[in-house]
Amino acid sequence: MSELMRVSLSIEKPLMEKLEELIERNNYANRSEYVRDLIREKLVSEQWAGDVEVVGTITMIFDHNARELQKKLTNTQHDHHEIVMATTHLHLSRSICLEVIISRGKASMIQALYESLRKQKGVLHVTLSMTSSGVNLS
Ligand code: NI
Repeated sequence: MSELMRVSLSIEKPLMEKLEELIERNNYANRSEYVRDLIREKLVSEQWAGDVEVVGTITMIFDHNARELQKKLTNTQHDHHEIVMATTHLHLSRSICLEVIISRGKASMIQALYESLRKQKGVLHVTLSMTSSGVNLS
């Protein structure tokens, strides 16, 4: 762990009160830990706006009975094989499948994979969770 530094900030009272509310609402033990996480969130969002390597998890549910859909979704993942690290498939019910795809690469490439999966007919819902490879976050 890096050396800790003590800092003092000037923040308008109403803004400071909002910060305190956020800390309480999010159950943080202290102000420092909350501010550290705010900084990391900002850094991760900057990583996603740039062209450094990031990590994204795509979760999608789709209709098992949609014609050729499973094959199309697998083909899409093969088209993006350089960023697809792992895929897990669960049969949620007789007719619904869930797939989780862990990807690593440039944000633009992960976004492109996400877009090409979500536009397929029979895909019911897709989310993209945007995180970092962890580089430069501590
Ligand atoms: Ni299935």
